[in-house]
Amino acid sequence: MKKAIIAAFCLFIGASLQAKKADPTLNIIPEPQSISFGKGTFKIKGANFNYDSFLDAATVGAIAQLQDDINIACGKAGSLAVATGVNCGTPLEAMKGIYFLKDATMAPEEYRIEIAGNAVKITAAGRNGFLYAISTFRQILPIESFGQKPAENIKWTIPCCTIQDKPRFAYRGIHLDCARHFYSVDAVKRYLDVAAMYKINRFHWHLTEDQGWRIEIKKYPELTEVGAFRAGTQKTSDNSKHDGRRYGGYYTQDQIRDIVDYADRLGITVIPELDLPGHMLAAMASYPWLGCTGGPYQVWTRWGVSDQVLCVGKESTFEFIFNVLDEICELFPSEYIHIGGDECPKTEWKKCPVCQAKIAELGLKDGNGATKEQRLQNYVTKRVQDYLAGKGRKIIGWDEILEGELGEGATVMSWRGTKGGIKASKMGFDVIMSPTTYCYFDYKQGSTEEDLKIGAVYPPKKPFDAKNLYSYEPLDEIDAEAAGHILGVQANMWTEWIRNEHELYYMLIPRLQALSEVQWTVPEKRSYDNFARKMKEFHFKLMDLLGYNYRPGI
Ligand code: ACM
Ligand code: ZN
Repeated sequence: MKKAIIAAFCLFIGASLQAKKADPTLNIIPEPQSISFGKGTFKIKGANFNYDSFLDAATVGAIAQLQDDINIACGKAGSLAVATGVNCGTPLEAMKGIYFLKDATMAPEEYRIEIAGNAVKITAAGRNGFLYAISTFRQILPIESFGQKPAENIKWTIPCCTIQDKPRFAYRGIHLDCARHFYSVDAVKRYLDVAAMYKINRFHWHLTEDQGWRIEIKKYPELTEVGAFRAGTQKTSDNSKHDGRRYGGYYTQDQIRDIVDYADRLGITVIPELDLPGHMLAAMASYPWLGCTGGPYQVWTRWGVSDQVLCVGKESTFEFIFNVLDEICELFPSEYIHIGGDECPKTEWKKCPVCQAKIAELGLKDGNGATKEQRLQNYVTKRVQDYLAGKGRKIIGWDEILEGELGEGATVMSWRGTKGGIKASKMGFDVIMSPTTYCYFDYKQGSTEEDLKIGAVYPPKKPFDAKNLYSYEPLDEIDAEAAGHILGVQANMWTEWIRNEHELYYMLIPRLQALSEVQWTVPEKRSYDNFARKMKEFHFKLMDLLGYNYRPGI
C-alpha cells in the first residue's frame, strides 16, 4: 500500500514536472515578478489595437510604434483606435484584439499583461507602466518584429499567459560622462533608447568636468567658448603626454531641451550633474576668478583628479554657482539635481587666504573625523542644497558629501564601494547605490584583446563583467529599517577611455541587461543561468538587429 502511494506520488510529481517543462520559455529582461501560463496562443498578425481615451500622447505614440513595427514585420495591418465600450474591468472573454486600458488603482510603474486566445489586455496606471508593458510585450513577440522589414516563415503567435509586474527599486539609473568624451545628441538618444528597453528610469548626465564644460549657459558664454574645448587628450597611461589635437563640443540649450523631452517620452527623467567644488577646471579656464590663485588655468588634457578647485571663500563663486543652477533648473524639471562633491582635494584651500578667512569666519574646526577644510566643503554643499531647496529641488551628491556634517534631505550616491551607502542609510539619508565594485562600466570586463583596448588603465582585480554585477545584492548589510532609504541602483559610464559609440556599447552590453535585473527583479526571481540563456537566445540577437555593439559571450 505504502509503495503504491509512493509510486502514485512520484507519477504525480513526474507529471507536474512534465507540465512545467511544457510551459513556453520566455526571454524577458528584466525578469518579471510573476508569469503564469494558460493554454493556447494569441494570433498577432492583423490584430486590431485599441487604447483608452485617457492615455497621454507619448503612450499612444509608443503603442502606434509597436503596431507599426509589427505590421511591417507581419505584412498585415490591423486598425488602431480608441477603445469603446470597454474598461480595465471588462473580462477578457468579452474582448477581441489588443487593448491598452488604464487602471488607476495600480502602482505608478506597475503593469499587467493578460494574453488569451481572443484578446490581449494590457493595464497600467500611467505612462511608465504602459511603456514597461510594451517593452515586455515586445520581448514575447518573435524577434523579427524588431527587424523593420517583412519576415518570412514566422508563426505570428504568442503564448497565452498573465504577467504581473512592478519594479523592486524606484530609482533605476544609468549615467553617462559626456565631458571626458563628447557624445552627440543622436548618440545620447540611442543610449536612452536602449536603457529604456530595460526599464531604466533615470539618466544621470555628467555635463561638467576638468576636461570639458558641455552645457550652454547663457549668462556665462565663455564656459562653452573656452571651457568646452581642450588642447589635446591623454591617450596612454603616461599622463604627461597628450595627442595635441583640439577636442570638444557642447550641447546648446535647445539640444538639452530636446534630449530632456526625448527621455521623458521614454519614461526617463534626466538628472543633470554640475560637479562641484572639484572637477571644475574647465569653468576656471573660462573664468579664472573662480579659482583660489586666479589662474591662468587650462581645460585639462589629462585624466585624474586636479588640485585646482573652486575658491569657495569668495561670494562671487556662489553667485556663479547659483546663476548656473538657475539655468540648469529651467532646463531640467527633475526633482533631483546632482551636485557632484567627489574628489575635491583640499590642497589649495589650505593655502588660500580667502578660503582660510572663510573657515575662521565660520568657526570651522578639525576633529570628530573631519578636517576644517572638509567642513568647508560641507558649507558649500549646504548652501547649494538650500539654494536648490528654495526652487523645490533636492540634491544628490557622491559619497564624499558624508564627510563632516551633511544636511538633512540630501541623497547620497555611494560610489567608493558600498560602505558610504550603508552608513548613510543607517543615518537616515536616502541612498543610491553605484559601487565601483559592481557598477562601474568603465572598468574592464575581462582580459580579451578587446577588453584590454578599452578601459586600459584599470588592471582588473576581478573581472567587472555582467556576472559580477549580477551577483550584486543592493540590500546586503542593510538592516530592515535602513532598507527603505535605498532608493535604487545606478551604473556609471565614465568615458576617459571610452572614445566612441562602438566602445561605449562594448562596455555597456551585456552589463546593462544584468543591471536591469538587479534594479527591477526581486532576488527570488533572479537566476544568472536563466539570465545568460535569455541573453544568448534573444538579447544579443536583438542588439545585432538594432545595431548596438556589445561584448560577446556571457
Ligand atoms: C567618481 O567616480 N569620481 C564619482
Ligand atoms: Zn580659495
